[in-house]
Amino acid sequence: MLNGKRILLIISGGIAAYKSLELIRTLKKSGASVRCILTQGGAQFVTPLSVAALSEEQVYTDLWSLKDETEMGHIRLSRECDLIVVAPASANIIARIANGLADDLASTTILASDKPVMVCPAMNPQMWENAATKSNIETLKKRGVIISGPAAGEMACGEIGYGRLLEPDVILSAITDFFFADKPLAGLKAIVTAGPTFEPIDPVRFVGNRSSGKQGYAIAKALSDLGASVTLVTGPTNEDAPSGIKTICIETARQMLESCQKLLPSDIAVCAAAVADWTPETYQNSKIKKTSDTSVTLKMTQNPDILSTLSKSVEKRPHLIVGFAAETDNLVDNARMKLLKKGCDWIVANSVSPENPVFGADENQVYFITSDKVEEWPRATKDDVARKLAARIVEFFNQDKAKHAAE
Ligand code: PMT
Repeated sequence: MLNGKRILLIISGGIAAYKSLELIRTLKKSGASVRCILTQGGAQFVTPLSVAALSEEQVYTDLWSLKDETEMGHIRLSRECDLIVVAPASANIIARIANGLADDLASTTILASDKPVMVCPAMNPQMWENAATKSNIETLKKRGVIISGPAAGEMACGEIGYGRLLEPDVILSAITDFFFADKPLAGLKAIVTAGPTFEPIDPVRFVGNRSSGKQGYAIAKALSDLGASVTLVTGPTNEDAPSGIKTICIETARQMLESCQKLLPSDIAVCAAAVADWTPETYQNSKIKKTSDTSVTLKMTQNPDILSTLSKSVEKRPHLIVGFAAETDNLVDNARMKLLKKGCDWIVANSVSPENPVFGADENQVYFITSDKVEEWPRATKDDVARKLAARIVEFFNQDKAKHAAE
């Protein structure tokens, strides 16, 4: 199933374009959303109206359309998808992509895109065998473009050989493989918290901390790369929203808790956010004026603990909950205490002493702590720490599956 996956389908010219209508239906039935670009050639074989009706989306045809450019724009078209599929891909469009041309909406969108591209060729067998096409296909493969097909058989022109567009269900399995092969966490839902929380004092001031969100964002990405359906709940950061990951932006600890609770049930929760333990007891609706007093007292009250709340929730407790511990002293002992007190399954401890600047840094050195072991992991980039943690999460679910199979 392709639930939630966004496919940008480019339909180029060729008799096989009629199959693209069935492909749209197949993709939509599997849960994907499908947005289409119809090339001028494609529009000779299928109408924009039928493509729009089946995709239930506007169809884009023209690079120079003022209406399309203002409403969507080719840059947004190229970014707001998880995979670009060119089906059917004629010899002409393959040559244009291979040579980096940008002379129509389809080729410009592909050139401007940072998304993976799958090309499903369909053409006369001689065209497919032609050295020029072979060389263009090699160029695309070297660039990481996925080539699916063509199939062999009798062509519309009566010739026999390789050149038939793959059937829609075969293209669907190629797309499913692309998303889920080597994706051991496919089918699992994960919540990741990241960044600081800002606790407002008045409309202009807040209490916050130095978390940049880098560690939490890296974890969200590592889990998503392994196929988990991740929602990132993040406090204010300067990090770019990670592509393909649902991201909920919050400010306060209470908002973070509410968002996390709404996301239950979930299989995995990783709480990497630096949540403020306290919040100002009262919020002043107007900016607090500076007076002649030389000091001011801010009364604080305790925030809810998100990690504890998730860990102790009875009905919808995520199957695996990972907390973080940021300590300046007695790192491992304090982290172990937090593991017990908050009731999570694992805790990742990092020192945030002034000599060890973790906040905002690209690297981290952590201890990985469970109820029965403590492992010291070597200093590594936050991306590598995230990947290592994600690999442990995969092991956990593999062991869990094996245990259930044995029962
Ligand atoms: O964001 P970076 O700049 O990349 O820095 C990464 C990091 C240092 C923020 C990260 O690695 C980290 O340690 N995050 C947890 C920071 C923290 O708040 O630690 P803590 O020891 O105060 O809290 C322990 C755990 O309880 C954490 O999982 C925290 O998310 C959670 N907590 C804390 C307070 C609270 N009210 N609710 C919570 O859920």
